[in-house]
Amino acid sequence: MSNLSPPAGVRNVSPPSGSPNTPVLRSLLFVPGDSERKQAKAIVSGADALILDLEDSVAVAQLPAARARVRELLQSQTDRSRQQLWVRVNALSSGILLEDLVAVFPGMPDGIVVPKAATAADVAEVAHYLSALEAREGQGAGSTKLVVIATETPQALLTLNSYGPVLAADPRTHERLAGLTWGSEDLSAAMGITHKTDRQGSLTFTFQLARSLCVVSATALGVQAIDGVYLDFRDAEGLKRDIESARRDGFTGKLAIHPDQVGPINEAFIPGTAEVEWAKRIVAAFAASPDAGVMSLDGQMIDKPHLVQARRILDLMGRRGAAHAPHGQPARDALDRG
Ligand code: COA
Ligand code: MG
Repeated sequence: MSNLSPPAGVRNVSPPSGSPNTPVLRSLLFVPGDSERKQAKAIVSGADALILDLEDSVAVAQLPAARARVRELLQSQTDRSRQQLWVRVNALSSGILLEDLVAVFPGMPDGIVVPKAATAADVAEVAHYLSALEAREGQGAGSTKLVVIATETPQALLTLNSYGPVLAADPRTHERLAGLTWGSEDLSAAMGITHKTDRQGSLTFTFQLARSLCVVSATALGVQAIDGVYLDFRDAEGLKRDIESARRDGFTGKLAIHPDQVGPINEAFIPGTAEVEWAKRIVAAFAASPDAGVMSLDGQMIDKPHLVQARRILDLMGRRGAAHAPHGQPARDALDRG
């Protein structure tokens, strides 16, 4: 076990993003924008956020109806304390992103999911549209957040390292950015990849690269790393493994496509009681010996990285409590499941 690891069974928690008041979204459930039936189910799914989709899951002919439906839903659900309502618009390259934004903006979406972003400049452009619409609608400047699906084109993968400098020069856009997520379907299509996994079922290198660059870039930017979808929604065991691996690798939330996926995702992305206990003991040990750089706890060496990790766990817990207290979901011991 590396010195950076918490004790056996205690899983990695990557730095939650943003200010302490930024809620960490564990589960974000996609719902086709034109399906009133699924929207009704999604609202009671327990997902921390819904992503009302105007892009790939909506047929072109249905798009006007979907925009109207999404706006109606947004306007009818004004209490967002238990569940945020996000909208996935069409890509900048589609030429219809602005129409999507204008149609849904009166409903005050909590955030916009940007698909097929090719570069950080795309993100900055969308952010500037949001600024204009917020001003027009009298909404708070910067109140509409952004999550970017950051790996859906080959070009996007090659330019992820430009987010740092672009956002450093544009702090208001950086403030809006709540998270990065990754997608494989569009990348497969763009590259003519026929299989995402090898014979053992592991992601092939291109997709491991996309996933890894997503979590590394998000962490470097100080925003939430959100794992992509698990498409086989009937495979509960596979989903569980996928979530565990996401959590171990530093993601703090995951996209869902089916209500059955929400519960397992929510449970997994809340630190277990043993993790929280471990974190409290580390923080207490360093508080009791402020001059110590290194010490031992339960026969293990602990030093600064452990303190950082412990604080992250407590920070994540704090934000969960603050953002979603009404759910009343108790922290649970996740050790047995690791
Ligand atoms: N949100 C809300 N409700 C959903 C849902 C979702 N994402 N997915 C399924 N449901 C509902 C179904 O409508 C069904 O309710 P009903 O019995 O009242 O009709 C119930 O949950 C069970 O659904 P099930 O029969 O298991 O699945 P399905 O065959 O109806 O739907 C999908 C399968 C994949 C089409 C559906 O899950 C879906 O639309 N997912 C989201 C797709 C999407 O947005 N993709 C874009 C991002 S990748
Ligand atoms: Mg897509």
